Amino acid sequence: MDENHADTTSSMSSVHPTSEPTAHRARAQVERAPSIRPTMSDSPISHHSGDKPPEKPQDDEAAGADAASTEEQKAQMEQAYAQMRRKLRITQLAEGIKHKVMVLSGKGGVGKTTVATGLALSLARQGLSVGLMDIDITGPNVPKMLGVSGAELHVEEGQIHPVPGPHGVKIISMAFLLEDEDAPVIWRGPIKLGAIQQFIGDVAWGELDALIIDFPPGTSDEPLTVAQSLPNISGVVVVTTPQDVALLDSRKSINFAKTLKLPCLGVIENMAGYTLRGRGEPNTSISVDGPEGTPIETECDADGNWQVTLDLFKFGGGESAAEELGVPFLGRLPFDPGIVRGGDDGVHRIVADPDGDSAKAFEIVVKNLQAQLTEDSGPSLKII
Ligand SMILES: Nc1ncnc2c1ncn2[C@@H]1O[C@H](COP(=O)(O)OP(=O)(O)OP(=O)(O)O)[C@@H](O)[C@H]1O
Ligand SMILES: [Mg+2]
Repeated sequence: MDENHADTTSSMSSVHPTSEPTAHRARAQVERAPSIRPTMSDSPISHHSGDKPPEKPQDDEAAGADAASTEEQKAQMEQAYAQMRRKLRITQLAEGIKHKVMVLSGKGGVGKTTVATGLALSLARQGLSVGLMDIDITGPNVPKMLGVSGAELHVEEGQIHPVPGPHGVKIISMAFLLEDEDAPVIWRGPIKLGAIQQFIGDVAWGELDALIIDFPPGTSDEPLTVAQSLPNISGVVVVTTPQDVALLDSRKSINFAKTLKLPCLGVIENMAGYTLRGRGEPNTSISVDGPEGTPIETECDADGNWQVTLDLFKFGGGESAAEELGVPFLGRLPFDPGIVRGGDDGVHRIVADPDGDSAKAFEIVVKNLQAQLTEDSGPSLKII
């Protein structure tokens, strides 16, 4: 919006405030200029609409008041245009990103961030261009898990440039804006939503094959705002651990996707089993004490190697929940103490041990996810 344009629309009767201004501001305008008609229209500015009331002649005092309110209107118009530009950018941005995947869980601590970072890294290892957006505003962990905490955001021409992470994953996180990582962030509703929209609209992602979006637990403001602000979301991935309590909550995430008419791309079962490995006499049986002392029998192979998988949090719950709710099951990720260490050290397990069990499990999950994303444009995608 240029200045000239702003001036030609400065007649108060021609300005429709956006739905954003505060009640206070709207009231002040009405007092000074009765001809302003506040409206909830999406279009912030309307040029000389046909139904406007005739303008009253202005005396000197009114002209003075006009000058003051013109400044206010200009500010409003700037705000309105900033919003319009952001909407436009969001639309353009959405076009440049092939797949947008939201990672959700009903329960906290089930491994959303681990999974979101793992999906991003696995896809990037295939040579794809991947972005990772950390929408967990109050507890943003992505930078720490990927070893880029403390990175400085680069802003150019009003656009925020994401921080490059391992395998070239482009990362954006509220953590980059926090001066003190340990200070709690308390955002009231509208500010939080504004920040999320800014995150979506003001980031220079460029062309991406996939954007993975990590959320705080639950189905509250954050996923709702993203779902409503970002067009053409490919779908939702639900992370769960295998036990019943977590599964109950993950059903809520699946129903959330359903309510918003977003495809549920599938369920991932995390911390599915812990594999113990050892060595013994080749071709002999051995017995391992499992949970609660239950003996588990296994065989040593010809080289004397044996392995046993302990289902720490039950087994198969994610798969049966997916089946029950009619959504795809994308696979299970093992319980891996290396994931905990990697998360704390900032070296993701996939980076530290690219051929290990976790990296391989992620590859399978990603393959299944990609199959769902490919079906996205075809007729057989299961839209719940
Ligand atoms: N497969 C796994 N094996 C072992 N530890 C894991 C696994 N997945 C996640 N963890 C660990 O569990 C903890 C929680 O994981 P993470 O932060 O990814 O969960 P989250 O769902 O994002 O949590 P929040 O709800 O707080 O955002 C972390 O310490 C992480 O290292
Ligand atoms: Mg998290």
